Amino acid sequence: MNQFEPLLQPLQLPNGIQVANRFVLSPMTTNSSTKNGHITNEDLRYAARRSNSAGMQVTGAAYIEPYGQLFEYGFNIASDDCIPGLTKMADTMKQDGNIAIIQLAHAGRFSNQAIRNYGKVYGPSPMKLHSPIEHEVIAMTTDKINSVIEDYKAATRRAIEAGFDGVEISIAQRLLIQTFLSTFSNQRTDEYGKDTLANRARFGLEVMQAVQEVIDHYAPSDFILGFRATPEETRGSDLGYTIDEFNQYIDWVMDVANIQYLAIASWGRHIYQNTSRTPGKHFGRRVNQVVYEHLNGRLPLIASGGINSPESALDALQNADMVGMSSPFVTEPDFVHKLADHRPQDIDLKFTMAELDDLAIPEAAFKDIVQMMDYGEGLERQTRDELRKLQHNYDD
Ligand SMILES: Cc1cc2nc3c(=O)[nH]c(=O)nc-3n(C[C@H](O)[C@H](O)[C@H](O)COP(=O)(O)O)c2cc1C
Repeated sequence: MNQFEPLLQPLQLPNGIQVANRFVLSPMTTNSSTKNGHITNEDLRYAARRSNSAGMQVTGAAYIEPYGQLFEYGFNIASDDCIPGLTKMADTMKQDGNIAIIQLAHAGRFSNQAIRNYGKVYGPSPMKLHSPIEHEVIAMTTDKINSVIEDYKAATRRAIEAGFDGVEISIAQRLLIQTFLSTFSNQRTDEYGKDTLANRARFGLEVMQAVQEVIDHYAPSDFILGFRATPEETRGSDLGYTIDEFNQYIDWVMDVANIQYLAIASWGRHIYQNTSRTPGKHFGRRVNQVVYEHLNGRLPLIASGGINSPESALDALQNADMVGMSSPFVTEPDFVHKLADHRPQDIDLKFTMAELDDLAIPEAAFKDIVQMMDYGEGLERQTRDELRKLQHNYDD
């Protein structure tokens, strides 16, 4: 008996869809699309090499409007001319019968690309900021809120048309919807404002309800709506929202949308082992455990962040139904196969340039964002430094 067998068991989502094993290829932008976000052959080759890496795969963030673009050379889903490329991406990811989800995101004030392109970004409240360059955060009017909700709807329709099995709405650390939920960022006094949790939650819930309506109208009945979030926002010991507030929030999300999973994500090391800083009964307990207990089997939970070995995957599965890995699948797309073949000792997270072609990693990749891997340290330093060299291969 393989001690890692629990990780290889199939899982049924609430809508009846079967996932082949407990692994999820979590979203990771490779920065290898065109400048305007269209899918390239390099994107497709990378996805093809990983189409059988995990039972479920989620693309890197696709931006739903130009002001929401998280990373340069990331996926665009903001206009219909993106659909042909996205269709090829969906076909490629699904070629081995695994599940292909596209992540829809709006980066709000953390869109470095919008800062560069337009000198301004959107958020719940006005700010003047200096990094990476002088820029303004424009407080979203109700009209702008409604237009972003329309953008989410249009992006969902495009994802359905392209043939993805589902969409994932991410409100994880730093993305636009999270900044509305956050008392750090949200200083508004209107019905989307800071005064009550219901007000701070409103924008995200309106997005989820609108996306669900599009799915009900246009998608096959087993289309998957996923949700990615950070259950507690922390700055030192200060909290932008507590884990209790998050648990209430996720219940509200489940009231307005038929979500099929919750994926937990944040920045930092060993995220899946994070402990709660919310004062009270949860303080010091694992964040994943608190949320897992709260869900109580109503929804599959995906743990992620710092899972980079069979042992850590098994550990994470104690408080989750599935485990997500991002950086490990960059350098070891065959992780799960080696585990299933009783060869866990052959799992190799190291990388040298000689393996670039075999791993189908684009020659120009991860522009400016290997530092994101530095936060997590899921791959060792030498490997991150080797990947960092790929950012010198861009034309500009
Ligand atoms: C280079 C890079 C790109 C990423 N792109 C995305 C993204 O597009 N969407 C997203 O939700 N998370 C993104 N992430 C976060 C990862 O999904 C994940 O949460 C993080 O890397 C920790 O998981 P890991 O230890 O398995 O790598 C990215 C992380 C890195 C390092």
